[in-house]
Amino acid sequence: MFVVCHMFTSLDGKIDGAFFSAPETAPALKAYQDLRGFYHCQAALYGTTTMLGGYADGLVPALEEDREAYSEKDFINPVGKTMGNFIVSVDPKGMLGFSSHILEKKGRPAAHVVEALTEQASPAYLSYLRKLGISYLFAGREQLDCALLLEKLAHRFEIQRLMIAGGGTVNWSFVQEGLIDELSLVIAPVADGSTTAVSIFERAEFLPPHEPTAFVLKEAKPLEGSGLWLRYARQ
Ligand SMILES: NC(=O)c1ccc[n+]([C@@H]2O[C@H](COP(=O)([O-])OP(=O)(O)OC[C@H]3O[C@@H](n4cnc5c(N)ncnc54)[C@H](OP(=O)(O)O)[C@@H]3O)[C@@H](O)[C@H]2O)c1
Repeated sequence: MFVVCHMFTSLDGKIDGAFFSAPETAPALKAYQDLRGFYHCQAALYGTTTMLGGYADGLVPALEEDREAYSEKDFINPVGKTMGNFIVSVDPKGMLGFSSHILEKKGRPAAHVVEALTEQASPAYLSYLRKLGISYLFAGREQLDCALLLEKLAHRFEIQRLMIAGGGTVNWSFVQEGLIDELSLVIAPVADGSTTAVSIFERAEFLPPHEPTAFVLKEAKPLEGSGLWLRYARQ
């Protein structure tokens, strides 16, 4: 499977914060959105925080205990599978709420939701997802096993091209496991200066320390309005 991490950043590598509302950011942001199509990915993957911020319908409502036997078997909605376009939602504990197994966001084509869970997800949450027709895959006991998830996405959903699109924590999880083939950075010509805004890569405390990761420059393309598109391949 080909995996690209496609991100939009400020000059100082921030992926969130005040720089988004600067007028000089707008042309690069438009280029970032347009360039999604360049990669022809069948799926986009987001971390829990990013899902909560823009894709899920908040946190899951209180669920009644489910009497069905707990099964760690993956669930695949055959109708969703035929859609051929997916949003993979990293949700290790099973806490995101949804109103449908289809998400239509920001003028993009309709996508079937595939939840990436760990064994921490409760039986009641699995039942909630099944009722909504949301597919789910188990990958890991407590932390996400990124390699296993990619393997399952390829085999169960025939996904050959995946876009990892934030946030910083999920991006780094995949980098740390050596699973990113290409890093695509669209840089706005604006510095943010924040010391608290999330940056493109954030190592979660639960991950072991790791050596820095180097990439090889494939292309550097100036964009209209002083932005820059950088494409790096895995070394
Ligand atoms: N500029 C851009 O292109 C762009 C794109 C997307 C997002 N963003 C921004 O990025 C920010 C969010 O970034 P973020 O780093 O805070 O959050 P994130 O990566 O979206 O989500 C982090 C959460 O995902 C779960 N997670 C991620 N990797 C995991 C792993 N290996 N194992 C287990 N759980 C894992 C954890 O959830 P639990 O802690 O619940 O277990 C973790 O707290 C938002 O502000 C969003 O707007 C920017």
